[in-house]
Amino acid sequence: MHHYMEHALSLAVRTMAYTSPNPRVGCVIVKDGHIIGEGWHNGPGTDHAEVMALKSVRGMVQGADVYVTLEPCCHYGRTPPCTEALIAAKVGRVYIAHLDPNPLVSGKGVQMLEASGIIVEHGFLSDAAEKINRYYLHFMRKQRPYVVCKWAMSLDGYMTTAKTDDRQISSLESQQHNHLLRHQVDAILIGYNTALLDNPQLTTRFFQDGIEARYPVRLVLDSRGQLPSSLTIFSPDLPGKTIVVTTSQSSLAWRNACEDANIEVWIVDSVDGRVSLQHLMQCCYAKRLLSLLVEGGRTVHEAFFRENLVDEVRAYIAPVIIGGMIRKK
Ligand SMILES: NC(=O)c1ccc[n+]([C@@H]2O[C@H](COP(=O)([O-])OP(=O)(O)OC[C@H]3O[C@@H](n4cnc5c(N)ncnc54)[C@H](OP(=O)(O)O)[C@@H]3O)[C@@H](O)[C@H]2O)c1
Repeated sequence: MHHYMEHALSLAVRTMAYTSPNPRVGCVIVKDGHIIGEGWHNGPGTDHAEVMALKSVRGMVQGADVYVTLEPCCHYGRTPPCTEALIAAKVGRVYIAHLDPNPLVSGKGVQMLEASGIIVEHGFLSDAAEKINRYYLHFMRKQRPYVVCKWAMSLDGYMTTAKTDDRQISSLESQQHNHLLRHQVDAILIGYNTALLDNPQLTTRFFQDGIEARYPVRLVLDSRGQLPSSLTIFSPDLPGKTIVVTTSQSSLAWRNACEDANIEVWIVDSVDGRVSLQHLMQCCYAKRLLSLLVEGGRTVHEAFFRENLVDEVRAYIAPVIIGGMIRKK
């Protein structure tokens, strides 16, 4: 039994990056000890894993066992409910890794299957399934994005070097690793100083193979509206979108200039003169951004920790000692 659920989990991760704001789901259909169908969800508007698996079936599906990594949906969205498809196919049993906390489903999918005489069991390899879907599950349960704080640091704990210091804290390997993470999240966030001093692109690059890059939304915190539109992140040639998150302290003239330059601006509450991270989380929730990668700098990381908003940390520790030779602003 676990073997089939493991296979369903391996299908769920096939589209690690593309399903948001939907969950990652895999499904295997088994009859007489043989896998007769399999499917996975490829993203919004495409077949759900159960439907793809049913369509792929070779032979008679009636009475078959279905292994699915998430509770089948029971509501009409961009596609019809999976419960209807499973009931119409007259499957015998449905094994589910874990229930879907989405209030539109949340146990109702199981109830509908059971009401049609299908035997349902759940709780198979649920820990592994929860890990795969941690962005989605967190978003549904906590009504805010899953936050990953990422930084590169020296052995002695510095995140920056002096301007004249050509030693790198990050390596090609760490960049490749981080860009794969960028590829998987819905948004990246940096602070005002990082935007100004590093002038980064915040795009998804450094892939070794032919993965089609996904470009998360770039959020930059600028409480007083002072960032110049000449920064790289505002370039119209850059793939993806940049949003400046500001407060009512920013001037109307600056906001109008942003509008003229096609730069999206979010005005959020201010706390102690800075962007309210809690309010920003609410905005991200409203925009259905399931995951947020915070890329610094230190001040922004500290603020996320202070607000108890950090769900995961990716720290790249380089074998260099900076020894206090940090960059002066
Ligand atoms: N090693 C790494 O992984 C890494 C990564 C990124 C950056 N860096 C380095 O870090 C340095 C910049 O770091 P930093 O600490 O000086 O600045 P930062 O974290 O990049 O930006 C801090 C600024 O963001 C703005 N901000 C708005 N709302 C905020 C909030 N709620 N909480 C915190 N900040 C908020 C504030 O400016 P306003 O009040 O004007 O809005 C604040 O001064 C750069 O030298 C960069 O090279 C290193």
